[in-house]
Amino acid sequence: MLVKLEDINKTFAQAAEPAVKDVSFEVQEGEILTLLGPSGCGKTTLLRLIAGLERPDSGQIILQGKKVAGENCWIPPEKRGVGMVFQDYALFPHLNVRDNISFGLKNKNETNNENKVREMIELVGLENQVDKNPADLSGGQQQRVALARALITDPLLVLLDEPFSNLDMNLREKMRREVVHILRKSETPAVFVTHDQEEALSISDKILVMNRGQIVQQGSPREVYESPLACFVASFVGQSNLLDGTISSDGENIITELGTFEYPHQHGREPGEEVIISIRPDGFELVEDGPIKGVIKEIAYKGGVVDLIIELTNKNINKELLVHVHPKYRVAEGDEVSLKLLPHFITMIGECKPVM
Ligand SMILES: Nc1ncnc2c1ncn2[C@@H]1O[C@H](COP(=O)(O)OP(=O)(O)OP(=O)(O)O)[C@@H](O)[C@H]1O
Ligand SMILES: [Mg+2]
Repeated sequence: MLVKLEDINKTFAQAAEPAVKDVSFEVQEGEILTLLGPSGCGKTTLLRLIAGLERPDSGQIILQGKKVAGENCWIPPEKRGVGMVFQDYALFPHLNVRDNISFGLKNKNETNNENKVREMIELVGLENQVDKNPADLSGGQQQRVALARALITDPLLVLLDEPFSNLDMNLREKMRREVVHILRKSETPAVFVTHDQEEALSISDKILVMNRGQIVQQGSPREVYESPLACFVASFVGQSNLLDGTISSDGENIITELGTFEYPHQHGREPGEEVIISIRPDGFELVEDGPIKGVIKEIAYKGGVVDLIIELTNKNINKELLVHVHPKYRVAEGDEVSLKLLPHFITMIGECKPVM
């Protein structure tokens, strides 16, 4: 294990609520981990705690077997071997690309520094820009300078706080792939911060979903998306239709207001137990004569997928469903449609209590 956080708490002076509450997690060698959560949930604070830019009120942080923060223990940021890439890149405006990248090197006169800087410039593909100042670079190029500057010191770990948020959609996707490629190639573990769920799903080995200073769920992208353990996760990581349900007397079905469904996964619940289920918008299929019938209230065409808001008509309930369909279906507002459920997209959620 490379990084270990144990029961970290941090409340800022005069704050009503803790910014970080009872947070524990580990980062393994070579792993890319993402903190995902809404604005103000404590993501940046957590990165700053790891970097040593904030002190925890309690708990401890261990980097490669060495305690760096905890009771009677404090290692300052410059001695932690952690690289950081900030949202605004924080490049030195008066230094050119080469000097920005070599800035972090300690023994500036060593001859192998020159090789190191050259290697790093190649790694991030800025060979033709070395003499330019940051103001003369594109957003994506500035981003690569910031990454190279963080990587040149061979950090144990790189922390990246919303590194793509200043880039437009196309460049963002491209930089995302490039940055992950560079991190994998240099075998540098990383903790990313984002509030973009698609970004988190696509780049991470592990996602930590945060809400109000706490980690609500941690797991692989597939675990977090397909088996959300809380309503917050089901709704924040992707979209969800949430429904009340009861386990049938044989334990194999869930009875809901939408009908009775077979539940193909292990659930460990007792017959009669009340549960909440999440159905992803991809979990429905338009069919000729399906068990769920409704009227299309709204349509949003998104290119690869069409979002439908469907008001149910054949069930005695007042409910709208969010449904994704393939654009091959030519549907219009007001159309009556019929749907069936695809069991793979149904998940039982542990509990929907708000996080305290
Ligand atoms: N230096 C500070 N002093 C006082 N309160 C702070 C300070 N820094 C952060 N906070 C508060 O701590 C909480 C967590 O802030 P943090 O910046 O970690 O959130 P975040 O998840 O990074 O949000 P965003 O996605 O908007 O960047 C917020 O309520 C914020 O107002
Ligand atoms: Mg932040």
